[in-house]
Amino acid sequence: MSESILAITGPTSGIGKATVKALAASFDHVLLLCRNLTKGEQLKQELLSAHPKLTVTLIHCDLSDLSSVNAAATEIREQFMYIDCLVNNAGMVSTSRKQSVDGYELMMATNYLGPFLLTHALLPIVLNSDRKQIIVVSSGAYKFAPMKAPFFNPKHFDPITGYGRSKLGTLYLAQELHEMYKNQGLRTTAVHPGMVSTNIGKNNVGQKVGDLVFGLLSPFFVTVEEGSQSVISAVQQPEVYAGVYSDEGTVTAVKKHGSDFKMRRTFIDATLKELNLSTL
Ligand SMILES: NC(=O)c1ccc[n+]([C@@H]2O[C@H](COP(=O)([O-])OP(=O)(O)OC[C@H]3O[C@@H](n4cnc5c(N)ncnc54)[C@H](OP(=O)(O)O)[C@@H]3O)[C@@H](O)[C@H]2O)c1
Repeated sequence: MSESILAITGPTSGIGKATVKALAASFDHVLLLCRNLTKGEQLKQELLSAHPKLTVTLIHCDLSDLSSVNAAATEIREQFMYIDCLVNNAGMVSTSRKQSVDGYELMMATNYLGPFLLTHALLPIVLNSDRKQIIVVSSGAYKFAPMKAPFFNPKHFDPITGYGRSKLGTLYLAQELHEMYKNQGLRTTAVHPGMVSTNIGKNNVGQKVGDLVFGLLSPFFVTVEEGSQSVISAVQQPEVYAGVYSDEGTVTAVKKHGSDFKMRRTFIDATLKELNLSTL
């Protein structure tokens, strides 16, 4: 019997870490795509001591940098003929306008363009697997941010709209994957994990401010174990969650702008052009 393989981005903190720790028992081999290999190595040792029979492979991948994403995808394709399940989890919030090394607004680069390129590059080997599953960790923040051109470098920056648009992009990506590849057996789910107490946003506003904001909002946040449950359920129950948007585990219709086919087409086409790709 062939080994089952899970690949996950952003496994070194928060929802990704809780997800991979919970799923490690149900896979034979886990690929940890990390921007920080020191944190990745620590996680690898943690996983191996809890699951001695597990195989863990570390891959360096900075999703804000397209050349790093390409290098990671090449390394994976050289080593693996298939991936059963790809979890696009990594993401970040920036409270000020920053640019990626490729010149894009940093949240759009990290949360959308990098994951789009990675998904494009790994899709053939996901389709090679028996399981054929992709999970996209999106966010309910898409609700506050209808898509608007220019897409990858907005004229005006504000963190809520910038983050929301990057997560709306991931929602469009999940819808596109589902529509284009469901007939080939691909099972795609977009997940909003809820408001989860993690490191997100803290690094960019300074630890003290981050702790204060999270402290004030803490009654509204769930733990990483609770927050990761919707991602874990999506992986474990594709018969329930394939082709849908899971809002904290509940299959939910997306808002009008979140399912605007015309805007999705325009946005996906602009992405393909920007990344020099002919198709997803
Ligand atoms: N927390 C929430 O309330 C919430 C709500 C809705 C959606 N989400 C989504 O959930 C996902 C996980 O976030 P989280 O809340 O668990 O945050 P987190 O604790 O900050 O974890 C984010 C993960 O993404 C990684 N990451 C950040 N920038 C990266 C980059 N440039 N390249 C590669 N990896 C990068 C981080 O790596 P390091 O460990 O090296 O920092 C970390 O492993 C994100 O997509 C986020 O948008 C979160």
